[in-house]
Amino acid sequence: MNYLRKLFQILGKWKVHYIFSGLLLIISIFIRMLQPKILQITVDKVIVYFQSGGKINTVPEDSVTKFLYSVIPEMKVDNLSLILISLGGIFLIISLLRGIFAFSGSAISASSTEKAIKKLRDKLFAHIQALPIAYHSKTPTGELIQRCTGDVEALRKFAATQVVDVIRMCALFTGAFLMMASINLTYSLIAILFIPLIFISSILFFKKERIIWAEHEKKQDQLSITVQENLSGIRVVKAFAKENFEIEKFTKQNEEKRQWALKLLKLHRVFFPTTDFFIHFQIAVSVFAGGYFVLHNQLTVGEYTAFYSYSMLVAWPMRRLGQLVSDLGMTTIAIDRIFSILDSKQENYKGEDFKDNKLKGEIEFKDVAFNYEENEKQRVLNRISFKIKAGEKIALLGPTGAGKTTIISLLMRFFDPDSGEILIDGKDIKSYSKEYLRSRFGVVLQKPFLFSTTIKNNIAYADPDSHIEQVIKAAKAANIHDIITEVFPDSYETIVGEKGVTLSGGQKQRVTIARTLMKNPDILIFDDSTSSVDSETEFEIQKAMRSLMKGKTAFIIAHRITSIQDCDRIIVLDKGNIIEEGTHEELIMHNGFYKKIYDIQISIEEEIKAETIY
Ligand SMILES: Nc1ncnc2c1ncn2[C@@H]1O[C@H](COP(=O)(O)OP(=O)(O)OP(=O)(O)O)[C@@H](O)[C@H]1O
Ligand SMILES: [Mg+2]
Repeated sequence: MNYLRKLFQILGKWKVHYIFSGLLLIISIFIRMLQPKILQITVDKVIVYFQSGGKINTVPEDSVTKFLYSVIPEMKVDNLSLILISLGGIFLIISLLRGIFAFSGSAISASSTEKAIKKLRDKLFAHIQALPIAYHSKTPTGELIQRCTGDVEALRKFAATQVVDVIRMCALFTGAFLMMASINLTYSLIAILFIPLIFISSILFFKKERIIWAEHEKKQDQLSITVQENLSGIRVVKAFAKENFEIEKFTKQNEEKRQWALKLLKLHRVFFPTTDFFIHFQIAVSVFAGGYFVLHNQLTVGEYTAFYSYSMLVAWPMRRLGQLVSDLGMTTIAIDRIFSILDSKQENYKGEDFKDNKLKGEIEFKDVAFNYEENEKQRVLNRISFKIKAGEKIALLGPTGAGKTTIISLLMRFFDPDSGEILIDGKDIKSYSKEYLRSRFGVVLQKPFLFSTTIKNNIAYADPDSHIEQVIKAAKAANIHDIITEVFPDSYETIVGEKGVTLSGGQKQRVTIARTLMKNPDILIFDDSTSSVDSETEFEIQKAMRSLMKGKTAFIIAHRITSIQDCDRIIVLDKGNIIEEGTHEELIMHNGFYKKIYDIQISIEEEIKAETIY
């Protein structure tokens, strides 16, 4: 029932179309029910009339036969060919009508499925967009891709064909049974005697299949994750000459998947022949019982013929039941997996939205404590407090893993602190809407990422309608304009990323800097963003950055002291604690951690200089 509700939820407003298509199918099946009746009339009336030389001419008993009698020519010996042709004609018309209704029903449900599944795909994608970073950092990309493609496809197939089949099967079963019952109730009950057995074995099969299929799909996820990770990290694989190791890993997982597929096949090998046996046994019982009824004058030969046709019609849904139950098992797993995404909590986007109003950029961290995971040995941020005036340039320095990026992530509300408060312009950041807050930040992330599109589109990501002049201005500021125009084949129209030109690490970083500058943010954050450029380029970028940072609050995370010594204040972090704070001069005077790093960097630089001179 729960699955039916979820399926209806997915079918959305198109469920009305399904109901309509179901109605058409039911009509088509009830029309279909007339065909065995024609057989019955042909045997019982026409043939018997002919064989008795026109002596036996029984009156029609039931309303269906009466109706059919009324539309065929009058029963006369010299009229027999015409009667047979008329009956054939009616048979043909019934087939045509039945075909039209059935085809229209299927066409409606098929097109409704496409619409509903498109909406589901859109919804899933939109939902994934709104899931928090915490979800994304824990869920492998390959798994999400598998759910949005493989599982949605399984559901699509089921909705397009099987939902209609369920209606068809129920209508066929009911219709055929009612027609049989109208001829002879006892016989019709005998004709469905073993059906409960098929039903019970189908339920058992369904339960078992679900377990196996869920495991099979987990293995499928693993394969997708392996392929996705392998392709993303193909350079590492090749650099370590680990192709064979990767192949072995894939082959092993692929074999595990095959084992589960095999288990499923084994189950099918038991289930399908068993139900087939029950069905054929049922038909055999019906054939013999029918013969018995005819011999005891409880059934005419024509009725027996019609009965046989109806019992075959009952057998069809029973045979389909197995396949349907099998597909249903797989589909319920797909529904579970799709809903495990849809039921995941989205980010809370509520809060005040100040539209285009700017932030002043006053920031305060008050006793902020944070851990990514519960029960971690050591806090990632250990009750830190600091205050930044509007327009101040702050540097964050500290060893790797100290918590620098984490501070930025909290500021942008990728995560919320476990305790303490973060204020911007005197207000708790939780009171701003995330959309507004993030729109006011300009961040150059630690790992540069470009989309597979033109350089222009990458730079103008925040506002795709930007004029090329603005794009060029940002590119110039990020010191990448010359490279774009002189090195890249199509200048700003050069496609980068997977289907285009591959940029060097430093070039990528500069494009992402240009992208951030285009946004004209109130608070700028550069997370180690000049780490992969040479000193000369770094100097150029910093010059540009300085002019753009004018009047704006800015965070600069860097490992090189030369990149940050001009900042208004430097916050030194270690193991989630602020250990020193002040201007470059103050920190040098203080002679602590900062001074130690400074001395090391200076001596390294001097060594390099000395080596290049000699
Ligand atoms: N998404 C995450 N989930 C769990 N732990 C994380 C996550 N991101 C970072 N950490 C952990 O938090 C700690 C601080 O990480 P953070 O990225 O803030 O360091 P950092 O100071 O920016 O270092 P680096 O200079 O190397 O960039 C590290 O110990 C890291 O293992
Ligand atoms: Mg970092």
